[in-house]
Amino acid sequence: MSTLKTLQSPGLGATGALADDIRALAPWFHNLHLPGGEQTAPDHPLGDYPSFKWKALATCLPGDMHGLRVLDIGCNAGFFAFECARLGAEVVAMDHDPRYLAQASWAARHLGLASRVSFRRQDVYALAGVRERYDIVLFMGVFYHLRHPLLGLDLAASVCGETLVFQSLGIEGPAGVETGDPGYLGRDRLREDGWPKMAFVEGEFAGDPSNWWLPNPSCMEAMVRSCGFAPQAQSGDVYIARRTGGAVHADERTAALVEGLRSGR
Ligand SMILES: C[S@@+](CC[C@H](N)C(=O)[O-])C[C@H]1O[C@@H](n2cnc3c(N)ncnc32)[C@H](O)[C@@H]1O
Repeated sequence: MSTLKTLQSPGLGATGALADDIRALAPWFHNLHLPGGEQTAPDHPLGDYPSFKWKALATCLPGDMHGLRVLDIGCNAGFFAFECARLGAEVVAMDHDPRYLAQASWAARHLGLASRVSFRRQDVYALAGVRERYDIVLFMGVFYHLRHPLLGLDLAASVCGETLVFQSLGIEGPAGVETGDPGYLGRDRLREDGWPKMAFVEGEFAGDPSNWWLPNPSCMEAMVRSCGFAPQAQSGDVYIARRTGGAVHADERTAALVEGLRSGR
């Protein structure tokens, strides 16, 4: 379970009629702006998070989401789910941490969005074998919390019919690097800056023991491609990728893995 110790607000800066509720539900990772003017994390260490992130990301997504189904994996207090619902989408928002779902459900009521967003207490791995498809899948801020991150990404991709929105905490580095097979004797190339890489974190990173893997940008792009999705746009560190024909093969590979894990064969 995520602790996110370093990037949360204790809600102490909250004012207004809902300030007591906000403090009782703290700590907050999302600074939600409520209709009465209250904010859940006005003292957030990242600023008005994730509002500033959404402003840029929204320009890469449909401006009208009526008729679209959105899945928000690792929804936290629901910021992105609420924004998609405001644009008309029918949203399923899942998180494995009941404390964040309590924040999200409370906020949905105060934002008047409870009828457009349904919350599920669910782990990303529980998407294994799910046959539902969503037009847009948000998989942001979760990957690096997973001990088996590529499985998590495969599963997110397997329920995505069109647009996968992927973001991970990562290591800096160049993107768009052509790799190819360097051959057995060319292994030195794997040490080059742009080669797709992930750093394994044993123990704790940034004060959070739930951080496991930090990929560099070329690794993120390559993993998204290997799930059968084509990165088409980027908003800061967020990748917006579209499903390609190759996703069918990736889906079969994921289904075979899930079946193998279940049956022990
Ligand atoms: C860093 S926050 C990101 C929240 C939000 N998606 C965003 O980008 O602002 C990570 C969220 O993912 C959730 N999470 C972590 N591991 C998960 C897992 N295995 N299954 C479902 N949710 C998970 C945490 O509880 C937390 O709410």
